[in-house]
Amino acid sequence: MTDSTPTVFCLPDDKHVPVEEGYNLLQALLIAGINVAHACGGSARCSTCRLHILTGAENCEPRTAAEQEMAERLKFDDSIRLACQTRIKGEVAARRLILDMEDEENASQLEEGNMGEAIGREATATVLFADVKSFTSLSDVLPPYDVIHLLNRYFRRAGAAIQRNGGHVDCYIGDGILAVFRWEEHEDATLRAVKAGLDLLEVATGISGYVESWYGRGFEIRVGIHSGPVVAGRLGDATMQRDTIIGDTVNTASRIENACKEAGVPFLISAPCMEMVRDSVEAGRTFALELRGKEGTHDLHEITGLKGDS
Ligand code: FES
Repeated sequence: MTDSTPTVFCLPDDKHVPVEEGYNLLQALLIAGINVAHACGGSARCSTCRLHILTGAENCEPRTAAEQEMAERLKFDDSIRLACQTRIKGEVAARRLILDMEDEENASQLEEGNMGEAIGREATATVLFADVKSFTSLSDVLPPYDVIHLLNRYFRRAGAAIQRNGGHVDCYIGDGILAVFRWEEHEDATLRAVKAGLDLLEVATGISGYVESWYGRGFEIRVGIHSGPVVAGRLGDATMQRDTIIGDTVNTASRIENACKEAGVPFLISAPCMEMVRDSVEAGRTFALELRGKEGTHDLHEITGLKGDS
């Protein structure tokens, strides 16, 4: 460090930290042992490293394009900066904003040797959501043990169908299934997901006869599929953790599955997915529907089968 090395005065830690040339504020603060959360590992894909610049804003280099995008998305004013994207050329005073004790424990990614790593991993995937139609009314009339018996019968066959097509069951949510088909594993991941969706409908048809004979009711499912970026991360507390995927792609797949109700069909996929599988699938109707939490209408395509040689 020389006399001209820029420094950041960090609150609430009350520490002056030198920021050597080539380092951003996140790196400098972590090296100084200050627990700044950094969920994405310093790539402007989260906002957990945010700082409130108290003085010396003129000594901060302008925002990177990636920081600007996040700032616009979260409506930051000019005094809020992402530490991992900010370099300085003089004295700055800043307060870190994600800073209570729980956050500090969560920032245990700061352990030595793991400093600066993301707590998730970005990937591109095709996501499949499947849900049992009218499950609540079914579970209202069936004894709970029968519900478990029935669901496990369905999950066992459904899980096998998903694996057979190269996917992974991410989790079961009540009667719902979230499955992921990773592009890094299969370049035809979307077609595989569609095949799995058709297989799941067959599984449900097969189980329906069983349910009908035992309980006098049918058993139908709805399936929705969408593709895009996801973040794979570990969620939970110390007693129970599991790996899962998060992101807008997952939410959209769930909403597409839900839109099957309004469309009155069992299987819908998004327009981007349709573009990828158009030559291989038999499509039914196209619906322009609103999806909860999303602006405008979205073209959703009914899938009814596969073309001959697919
Ligand atoms: S660590 Fe995620 S944006 Fe800085």
